[in-house]
Amino acid sequence: MHVVVIGGSGHVGTYLVPRLVRAGHQVTNVSRGAAQPYTPDPAWQAVRTVTLDREAEEARCAFGTAIAALKPDVVIDMICFKEASCVQLVEALRGRVQHFLHTGTIWIHGHSTQVPATEDLPKRPFGEYGIQKAAIEAYLQREARLNGFPATLLHPGHIVGVGWAPVGPAGNGDLTVFEKLARGEEVLLPNFGLETLHHIHADDIAHAFMQSMSHWSESVGESFHIVSPAALTLRGYAEAVADWFGQPAQLRFLPWPEWRQTVSEEHATQTWEHIARSPNASIEKAKRLIEYQPRYSSLQAIRESLDALIASGVIKI
Ligand SMILES: NC(=O)c1ccc[n+]([C@@H]2O[C@H](COP(=O)([O-])OP(=O)(O)OC[C@H]3O[C@@H](n4cnc5c(N)ncnc54)[C@H](OP(=O)(O)O)[C@@H]3O)[C@@H](O)[C@H]2O)c1
Repeated sequence: MHVVVIGGSGHVGTYLVPRLVRAGHQVTNVSRGAAQPYTPDPAWQAVRTVTLDREAEEARCAFGTAIAALKPDVVIDMICFKEASCVQLVEALRGRVQHFLHTGTIWIHGHSTQVPATEDLPKRPFGEYGIQKAAIEAYLQREARLNGFPATLLHPGHIVGVGWAPVGPAGNGDLTVFEKLARGEEVLLPNFGLETLHHIHADDIAHAFMQSMSHWSESVGESFHIVSPAALTLRGYAEAVADWFGQPAQLRFLPWPEWRQTVSEEHATQTWEHIARSPNASIEKAKRLIEYQPRYSSLQAIRESLDALIASGVIKI
């Protein structure tokens, strides 16, 4: 089939595009032409790249028609963040594609309530990103169920892979936390360290897209959490990292209002965004319907990324 991946040269596309090529599909990547895959793969030689700026094309209502003009059988949308963007694309592709796959997020859930969260829990997202992604889910499911539009939604957790940094044990992007744990130095964590993160290796997301395509009749009209088999507590994550370096984790816990004073505003905000949601999502539906089988646990995915960051000198231990 001709598969058009919108935003195929990023985290997920690095793994997904070579998988699509090797499965025998004709693949077109649509991007602005700036990002390069994180790891080289000869499969990219068979990929056509169409250079388009989605935002600019959408502003003149030309993005949907530009994608339709590529005559795709399947469209995988990696970079849709607004319901209006999705509507423009669906209007242009209606009746013209066999499968439309949207990349969502587990932030559609807002605060965790019952865990592991299942896809059918009432959605109470907060923050513009989660609210828009939940609106896109509701819109695509309506289109699939009422109008026969062949949409599937995949909702990843915190994406991990070689070439970029994982959300760390303090729930933010502060890489010095890894360095402190590796040296056996004290690390402060908020509250009891029992709030959660739910990571996913980018290649397992790529696998989920392939499974959704090959299980078309089970996946159309459905949404799936695409995360590792189990979420991590901040404390468990920190202890595992220290253990990798043969250190006991020197952890100290502070109530949130005090803890947030110990880090930068940027890192405090990132941590709040993560632990306020404390995602812990079930993959039972994806296992059952599309035979999703993630290869990486959260810690295995993080370890792979961490080793690459150490090897490249970004993290110094
Ligand atoms: N990061 C996470 O932890 C996380 C967690 C849950 C869900 N998600 C979801 O994952 C998706 C992002 O996937 P990803 O992480 O693989 O993406 P990514 O690494 O950010 O890559 C973005 C891709 O889109 C292209 N792109 C960006 N802006 C564009 C524009 N205006 N016009 C055309 N192409 C554009 C980029 O290439 P150019 O720069 O060359 O244009 C690149 O190919 C989003 O839907 C996000 O909500 C992410």
